[in-house]
Amino acid sequence: METTDAQQGKDFIEKRIFGKMPDGQTVEKYTLRNASGMEIDVITYGGIITRWTAPDKNGSYEDIVLGFDDLQQYLDGNPYFGALIGRYGNRIANGKFSLDGETYTLATNDGENHLHGGEKGFDKVLWQAKGESVADGASLELTYTSADGEEGYPGKLDVKVTYTLTGDNELDVRYEATTDKPTIVNLTQHSYFNLSGDFTQSVLDHELFLDADAYLPVDGGLIPTGELRAVSGTPFDFKQPKMMGKEINAENEQLALGKGYDHCWVLNPKEGNYGLAAAAYHPKTGRLLEVYTNEPGIQFYSGNFLDGTLPAQKGGTYGQRAGFCLETQHYPDTPNQEGFPSVRLNPGETYSSRTTFKLSTK
Ligand code: BGC
Repeated sequence: METTDAQQGKDFIEKRIFGKMPDGQTVEKYTLRNASGMEIDVITYGGIITRWTAPDKNGSYEDIVLGFDDLQQYLDGNPYFGALIGRYGNRIANGKFSLDGETYTLATNDGENHLHGGEKGFDKVLWQAKGESVADGASLELTYTSADGEEGYPGKLDVKVTYTLTGDNELDVRYEATTDKPTIVNLTQHSYFNLSGDFTQSVLDHELFLDADAYLPVDGGLIPTGELRAVSGTPFDFKQPKMMGKEINAENEQLALGKGYDHCWVLNPKEGNYGLAAAAYHPKTGRLLEVYTNEPGIQFYSGNFLDGTLPAQKGGTYGQRAGFCLETQHYPDTPNQEGFPSVRLNPGETYSSRTTFKLSTK
């Protein structure tokens, strides 16, 4: 019998057809594997992570991210399940910003505000993909060129996102972009995690740690007011691990505005500008997710707007708080806020952002 690469433990990537776009273009699905048995499915539509298996404390693997089994369900609309987000992750007030004296108008696809790149953001485009096996794991490079003026943003933006699954159950996500005109960029990943592996359960029994002394309070449209508010003594304090559900229903103006947690935390500065930003732990299964980044902020979204209308992968529906997102990013509405770290990208510069999701058990 011939020995395949897989048997030698070398071939950790597989490509299949996932479906066809309405215009006939093929959407591919890549499965990234590692030597210990973790699997991550990524489709070329939106760079979406559709499935991500992780072991519990007894070694039993289950899917831990909300998603769908077929393309049509993604095309029918959903709140950014597993997707790459760009050009600007999170909100821009009134869909307007100025750069060098010129005002740009973006789609207002979230009430009066712009959200997650607009009507057809990076979550809804087809990416070019190149996959390869690496030591004990696999890597998938996704590229996309966003035309000058796409969704209202200035400059032709060349974007590269590399997902690398390592042998240590880490998914390393590297984002790069270059432009031919001054522009703004803020890329992120929008996976909804449920570490229980049971998507009919809410995530409120997960413990959360956020390495942040402050967060950004918002107005009624979830736009930051500009204030950096200390978390101490408030339901927003996750400096010590705390159940997501512990104070989510507390009397609190900010929780009322977000219908739960839907805010950006100001990450504490890290030595070397990259480090642990957040950790989520599910005590029953022992699954632990750690998030490392070089970004200054993280949006913790507790899945408040999931409403039980979308069918869940393993039966039932995705109910309120069936998943949580930890979106590493620059702060929302930065282009309109003096004092927030800049999101400007100039020609000749390379936007570079890194986030690592590490799964383990304890
Ligand atoms: C936002 C939420 C929004 C969700 C899905 C999150 O990143 O913070 O407000 O509802 O994405 O659209």
